Amino acid sequence: MSQSYQYDVLIIGSGAAGLTTALTLPQHLRIAVLSKGDLASGSTYWAQGGVAGVLDDTDTVESHVQDTLIAGAGLCNEAAVRFTVEQSRNAIDWLIEQGVPFTRNESSETEKTHFDYHLTREGGHSHRRIIHAADATGAAIFTTLLARARKHSNIHLIEHQAAIDLITTNKLGREGNTCLGAYVLNRETNEVDTYAARFTVLATGGAAKVYLYTSNPDSACGDGIAMAWRAGCSVGNLEFNQFHPTCLYHPQAKNFLITEALRGEGAHLKLPNGERFMARFDSREELAPRDIVARAIDHEMKRLGIECVYLDISHKPAEFVKEHFPTVYERCLTFGIDITTQPIPVVPAAHYTCGGVVVDQDGHTDISNLYAIGETSFTGLHGANRMASNSLLECFVYARSAANDIAQQAAQVSAPESLPQWDASLVTDSDEDVIIAHNWDELRRFMWDYVGIVRTDKRLLRAQHRVRLLLDEIDEFYSNYRVSRDLIELRNLALVADLIIRSAMQRKESRGLHYTLSYPELSAQAQDTILKPANADD
Ligand code: FAD
Ligand code: SIN
Repeated sequence: MSQSYQYDVLIIGSGAAGLTTALTLPQHLRIAVLSKGDLASGSTYWAQGGVAGVLDDTDTVESHVQDTLIAGAGLCNEAAVRFTVEQSRNAIDWLIEQGVPFTRNESSETEKTHFDYHLTREGGHSHRRIIHAADATGAAIFTTLLARARKHSNIHLIEHQAAIDLITTNKLGREGNTCLGAYVLNRETNEVDTYAARFTVLATGGAAKVYLYTSNPDSACGDGIAMAWRAGCSVGNLEFNQFHPTCLYHPQAKNFLITEALRGEGAHLKLPNGERFMARFDSREELAPRDIVARAIDHEMKRLGIECVYLDISHKPAEFVKEHFPTVYERCLTFGIDITTQPIPVVPAAHYTCGGVVVDQDGHTDISNLYAIGETSFTGLHGANRMASNSLLECFVYARSAANDIAQQAAQVSAPESLPQWDASLVTDSDEDVIIAHNWDELRRFMWDYVGIVRTDKRLLRAQHRVRLLLDEIDEFYSNYRVSRDLIELRNLALVADLIIRSAMQRKESRGLHYTLSYPELSAQAQDTILKPANADD
């Protein structure tokens, strides 16, 4: 039997953004935090490098702002960048207060300074400003925030619940467009439950699973972006898909990232013959922003017909490597690679969705009482290319401002009136799940081949043609068969793929992560690509 629930705040997603919102909201509000898989199923748990912030006396807000603007290739919203960077110290102090065990400086026991945490470097940053917990920062943050959330009786953490669609006044034929909650597939009962909420927060992460090769976990299907679009929200800059330059290349390694902090601590990129090559592409060499490094690797792999390049930190003392990168060291060792003596085979893979649901500084979307935060949102911070470790920072800063905004609005927003239950009377069980598996594979493969690191008009057209066929087939399937997690995800991935292609086709230039041989030059004018659904209120 399907169930109906009523909450003050429904948070869809239990990563850095979702948990931070829940912990910042006032404790008199009843909050549901949903997760599609187990609570750790988002990207947050896997984050390695750390969180960027202005933490050192020799660093400045201006410097972090300028680095972000440069990495963003002229497309960042400067107000969003300033807001985020100015909030970085508060956000990181809050994480420390929650108890996140960030790595301290070796001298910290003897020479306590004002801020005795070790700061590392990553591409694009002109200062050491990444606070981290060795090379498993995401796990340390997630575990700490989750333990905190478990202590709050007003926060209900509910796993294995896949939100299907938002419930809005518009969809119900009522006045205006206000979000009233969501329909959610309970993966334990296989029923679709109704969650009514005064406020709904999309914190569903990114969409990197739209590509065949990705550093992301299985949850990254763009569900929040797709749900928001179907409900009438604008989306922005979806053509900017970040490829991380260095994912482990090994037949048995699925999605394993080799953190950029290795390059920050001096690792070199090399060809199979041991030659370093980054100086040929950028004077910042291995510490150039990610778009440049990923494109350089892609170029060398295609030029030489090789399957990977190598990342080498074996010239550093073994103890240093093991202490700073225990996760990478251990994981590579399981594949027979000792990183203290051997170079690591690496390839680029889809890593981060720079665009998303258009929001303002408080996470408001175009729909009343609906917020979007974290990787699912488009705040304007990242422009055409996200700088390393600015993503977790964005999660904390915007989650906190959205939560404060909800706290201020709460007295004026009443609970939604009765909502209809999900109608499953016209669907049957599918006996052809092979179609879903086949379409998943086809979609991710052509997105990789045609909408990847290097694009052309012709490739984009091919991809658009294929995605439209898939969308028709999926729509038909969706109307006739009972929903499953795979079907929900495929429907969302195909929609987001279509939005990515449409955005890429609108950009008649090469900028940041969007590189097309059809328009290799940078336009004089920098413009966001904003798409608005046809049925959205103007
Ligand atoms: P996520 O952490 O991805 O969480 C999404 C949540 O939404 C999950 O709980 C998921 O189950 C849930 N969800 C999704 N769809 C649904 C649905 N339909 N119904 C219900 N629940 C749903 N960034 C940095 O700044 N520094 C780093 O060092 C760093 N390292 C990274 C390393 C790796 C390997 C990866 C993959 C990313 C890294 N990033 C890093 C990026 C960063 O981790 C993510 O951008 C960030 O964690 C996103 O957090 P989030 O809360 O928005 O989403
Ligand atoms: C990494 O550790 O290389 C990932 C950092 C990031 O994505 O910001």
